Amino acid sequence: MKKRGIFVAGTGTDVGKTYVSALLVKSLRERGMNAGYFKPALSGAVREGERLVPGDAQMVCECAGLPGDPADYVAYCYEPAVSPHLAAQLSGKPIEPDGIMNRFREIASQFDYVLTEGCGGIFCPLRTDSRTLLLTDVASLLGYEVVLVSPSGLGAINAAVLAVQYAQNRGLHLRAVIMNQFEDENFLHQDNKKQIERFTGLEVVPVARNARTISADFLLESSALA
Ligand SMILES: Nc1ncnc2c1ncn2[C@@H]1O[C@H](COP(=O)(O)OP(=O)(O)OP(=O)(O)O)[C@@H](O)[C@H]1O
Ligand SMILES: [Mg+2]
Repeated sequence: MKKRGIFVAGTGTDVGKTYVSALLVKSLRERGMNAGYFKPALSGAVREGERLVPGDAQMVCECAGLPGDPADYVAYCYEPAVSPHLAAQLSGKPIEPDGIMNRFREIASQFDYVLTEGCGGIFCPLRTDSRTLLLTDVASLLGYEVVLVSPSGLGAINAAVLAVQYAQNRGLHLRAVIMNQFEDENFLHQDNKKQIERFTGLEVVPVARNARTISADFLLESSALA
């Protein structure tokens, strides 16, 4: 299914995918675009009585002013704070591509643009039993270009270049790399940016610590909106 949007992946877990996603959805909405959010699978949700609260969706909804229950923006939500394939196994609720796509279609029917946030790093198994389902398979199903969120400090060149090359080997198109918690005056960060640009050929967008806005220009200029 083709719907305007982007897939936000990371070099690893906790690199700032949700932080960046929230600001990008907010930025798109401030431009008057009816942009929404989708999270195919989330583990580590917080239990409140009978309900599981998906933290990532809650943060994006609050920051970007999305309507409704944050849980509606997530296809598969699990309590154990482990890789989604293991959380699904422990919960006895396997992740089905159809389940992801059905929830996606519901969200896509309400929005003109859907920013989808991956889980974990770019290599993230969602299912490892009788069939294999990887995070990159979901990005392929959705047909989106990928924005890769990377840290900015020591190790960033290795992490970002490997992640980009892996995603490209899986047939995905990369739109940009976001270097998160970037410090303009830090010579290591500056050089990492130069090397990531050089070895990936991609646009690299720096995002500062505690940034309150991220310009969505690099999304709007892209074929991600075509
Ligand atoms: N630019 C930033 N400035 C300040 N804090 C940040 C920034 N980016 C991320 N953080 C903080 O770092 C932590 C991890 O970020 P975040 O939850 O966005 O990571 P993630 O990649 O979405 O993780 P997950 O793999 O669990 O989805 C959060 O506490 C978040 O608020
Ligand atoms: Mg997240």
